[in-house]
Amino acid sequence: MKEKISKLGLIIENLTAKTLDDVEVLRIKYLSKKGEISALFDNFRNVPNEQKREIGQLLNVLRDRALNKINDLRENLSANAQNTEKQDFTRSAESLELGARHPLSLVRNEIIDIFSRIGFSVASGPEIEDDWHVFGALNFPPEHPARDMQDTFFIEKNPDILLRTHTSSVQTRVMTSQKPPIRVLCPGRVYRNEAISYRAHCFFHQVEGLYIDKNVSFADLKQALLYFAKEMFGEDTQIRLRPSYFPFTEPSAEMDISCKICGGKGCPFCKHTGWVEILGCGMVDSNVLDECGIDSKIYSGYAFGMGVERIANLKFQVKDLRLFSENDMRFLRQFK
Ligand code: PHE
Repeated sequence: MKEKISKLGLIIENLTAKTLDDVEVLRIKYLSKKGEISALFDNFRNVPNEQKREIGQLLNVLRDRALNKINDLRENLSANAQNTEKQDFTRSAESLELGARHPLSLVRNEIIDIFSRIGFSVASGPEIEDDWHVFGALNFPPEHPARDMQDTFFIEKNPDILLRTHTSSVQTRVMTSQKPPIRVLCPGRVYRNEAISYRAHCFFHQVEGLYIDKNVSFADLKQALLYFAKEMFGEDTQIRLRPSYFPFTEPSAEMDISCKICGGKGCPFCKHTGWVEILGCGMVDSNVLDECGIDSKIYSGYAFGMGVERIANLKFQVKDLRLFSENDMRFLRQFK
């Protein structure tokens, strides 16, 4: 019996097969109910009692080896079969579809590009902020109605932790951690508690800018913004500054550009005025500089902030703001 088992073991070890059918034949020959290994198991009754233990173990090992061998043969053959099926060297190459940048990234990158040419670098900060960085340091007194200008999503009350409503919070962080001259752009996502519609969303994107040095004047601000408008919208673009109010700038202004759609003649897009508003700006309020540890007697600065969606609307004439966050491929493919 022992001899038979070891002979069969050797044979099984050296089995080969060319096709899956061959494997099946081998399986039947050795492992089926009427196969050679089963026959040995049938004979087991005749093994003398004192050998049963040893022979039983040998038989089990033999059967396991045979099972493994058959499985191996089968796996090798089916893997090879798949490989050769797949290899058709005459097939033409599959074309890879190239993706496109998101329109908001395109516009943000272009804004950064334009300002980096006049020395601005990029700063970033957290979207979850405390009250001081978003409001307190920026001259929003505690009960001031200006806080209502930007309906805020609060995460915790007392102390207030909130989603930033503007990236001016990053400017706070830069002013408290760097010494002038400071010339930074702060791009990023901001959140406001607004009902979602074609013209408003509860989050959007801004790029804000800050320049602080000795003798920075409103004329510098105007010059930088005119340069930006011409680079972004074309050489023939005109700008107009209207007095406005922001707690953190004094004086403050809103900037319009001549309407790109009608060329300034008046159309529904510009509400027949010939102008469209694109950003807010002003000279950094001395309270803000002092609160952030910058001596307002020595330094002055300007700041501006714009919505990326708004600029993208003007450039690409997207009528519904929601398209920017829906990830509809039919929309996004148009920006290749
Ligand atoms: N932080 C303002 C806003 O979110 C924009 C702004 C920035 C205005 C800098 C003036 C100066 O609306």
